[in-house]
Amino acid sequence: MKIGILGSGAVAQTLGAAWAKKHDIFIGARNPYKPTLVDWQKTIGSNVQVGSLQEAAAFGEVILLAIRPWEEIQGVIKPLTHELNNKTIIDVNNNIEFEKLPKLAFTQKSMGESIQSWLQESHIVKTLNIVPAPMMVNPIQSGIVPAIGWVSGNSADAKQQVTGLLQDLGWESVVDLGDIHKSLLQENIGLTLSIIVSGIMAQKADALIKG
Ligand SMILES: NC(=O)c1ccc[n+]([C@@H]2O[C@H](COP(=O)([O-])OP(=O)(O)OC[C@H]3O[C@@H](n4cnc5c(N)ncnc54)[C@H](OP(=O)(O)O)[C@@H]3O)[C@@H](O)[C@H]2O)c1
Repeated sequence: MKIGILGSGAVAQTLGAAWAKKHDIFIGARNPYKPTLVDWQKTIGSNVQVGSLQEAAAFGEVILLAIRPWEEIQGVIKPLTHELNNKTIIDVNNNIEFEKLPKLAFTQKSMGESIQSWLQESHIVKTLNIVPAPMMVNPIQSGIVPAIGWVSGNSADAKQQVTGLLQDLGWESVVDLGDIHKSLLQENIGLTLSIIVSGIMAQKADALIKG
């Protein structure tokens, strides 16, 4: 399968490298000549191409959307609407704001629903937003037992496609949570886990300071 990836950061590189074992990957970046990206591509091999966001959007039969910060997402995808129409869009994004206490930026409507409303002819599937990037591609060894993934989205065919791609990564079974409105649940779990992790990190930092 041809997978176009919008974004070239931690999630894009981790999933891109894992899927490249079986699929053709095109990473779309605003600066495809960034030295760290060029070096990364050399280590992965010939079935990963790097180019513009538009080239990646046009290349992919399935698209991974992996942009941070979340405020940039609408501006990145809007000009690509034509290339993204009728395609499955994998949404792994979180819209957590960390200014004081972590909170979801949107509470009435999820990030997944918002992306679906911005790309009405595309099929958004929310998945993997609750796990750190290394665990996305290594769920069993990471100790998530059993390795159960979740998807939500309005298109049964798109969810089936994404389920296959999750199974390629080692997710043993994938639960269909329902339509894209259910992504609000996934995003709230992402928020809860990030609060727990930031609490643990704060405790560790405190212990280090106290010696
Ligand atoms: N990292 C994780 O463990 C993890 C886990 C679960 C979910 N997520 C979610 O996955 C998404 C991606 O996270 P990440 O860790 O991969 O982030 P990251 O490493 O910071 O990478 C973000 C990417 O977005 C690109 N970007 C930002 N604004 C852009 C714009 N206006 N035009 C084009 N590209 C733009 C950046 O491009 P440049 O390189 O040019 O700056 C970069 O390639 C986020 O929504 C995050 O919440 C991450």
